[in-house]
Amino acid sequence: QDVLNVGIAGLGTVGASVVRLIAKGDNRLAQASGRRIRVSAVSARTKGTDRGIDLSAMRWVDDPIKLATDPGIDVFVELMGGAEGTAKQAVEAALDAGKAVVTANKALLAAHGVALAKKAEAKGVALNFEAAVAGGIPVIKTLRESLLGNEIERIYGILNGTCNYILTRMADEGLSFEECLADAQRLGYAEADPTFDVDGFDTAHKLSLLTSLAFGTLVDTKGISIEGIRSIKPVDLKMADELGYRVKLLGVAQRTADGVEQRVHPTFVPKDAAIAQVNGVLNAVAIDADAVDLTLVGPGAGGNATASAVIADIADIARGHRTAPFIRPVAQLTKPTRAPL
Ligand code: NDP
Ligand code: HSE
Repeated sequence: QDVLNVGIAGLGTVGASVVRLIAKGDNRLAQASGRRIRVSAVSARTKGTDRGIDLSAMRWVDDPIKLATDPGIDVFVELMGGAEGTAKQAVEAALDAGKAVVTANKALLAAHGVALAKKAEAKGVALNFEAAVAGGIPVIKTLRESLLGNEIERIYGILNGTCNYILTRMADEGLSFEECLADAQRLGYAEADPTFDVDGFDTAHKLSLLTSLAFGTLVDTKGISIEGIRSIKPVDLKMADELGYRVKLLGVAQRTADGVEQRVHPTFVPKDAAIAQVNGVLNAVAIDADAVDLTLVGPGAGGNATASAVIADIADIARGHRTAPFIRPVAQLTKPTRAPL
């Protein structure tokens, strides 16, 4: 059977799960995609680390940028993280070399997504990033494919698993912000620098990608009004509860007369609203459109949930599935605003 050779840079929470799940789903993936998906080469910072996965059949490449252009791979999977430096250089190198790319790196895409998408389109290769937004929820495919017949009015939701996990446990168990954040880090939900989570930047990165796909704007985080959850205390959540609300960190993008407005902030959500029931590491994305209104709910972070999305992207490439273009700059963004939801 024809083989799709995959190179993976980054073997942490997500990368190790991808290796594990590809090995476990070997036959099923081959049957579904028509090609055997083989992880042929891998790279990370430290070679000797025990990652609980079998790497014996894979070549180790010290330099992820070398791996990106390795003649032995067809697809480069970037799971290192970071908007600049090695991740950016490796993805650029892979695209320049005509390799398809899969990444979960929303920080990179929020900063450089348009330029990277242009490179991918110029080379006629895929740049797939399902895992970059809302972990295991297939929201990118939903926007790029399933809802193309819709004009979207608003997209909003819980886009950061770490923050939702912290807010849920603070509200339900009265634990401190610090204890909950430490647990989220231990469980592999948080970013390498958790400031990105708790100060709302990660939600903003994801929102900018959703906005671009939903409304046809350029990916742009500069105009997003951002407030995180760092200053919220258990007592605030207790008082919200007494008043009939849950507090959720939401990312919101909606059409206005002046263009598409994007914002990120903690929000009082009535307890009987569907999104108020989305707790722990779960994420939710609500899409209001002219033909369809829907809400997707699922695990927003964690190794296996994220790996599920990465593997779907790899399988799409194996099947030769072409996605809609990333850039459709047909709408404008507004200046930062804090209008109520
Ligand atoms: P980890 O910190 O767990 O793993 C990062 C991996 O990348 C490690 O294996 C590390 O090597 C390697 N690495 C980092 N920098 C370099 C470098 N300069 N050169 C070589 N290797 C490097 O991160 P995650 O797995 O949690 O996240 C990976 C990506 O996925 C990030 O972009 C993140 O935002 C995104 N993501 C994460 C989710 C999650 O739930 N964790 C969910 C959705 C997206 P070593 O192990 O040797 O140190
Ligand atoms: N740190 C991110 C989160 C990982 O907690 O949602 C998933 O993108």
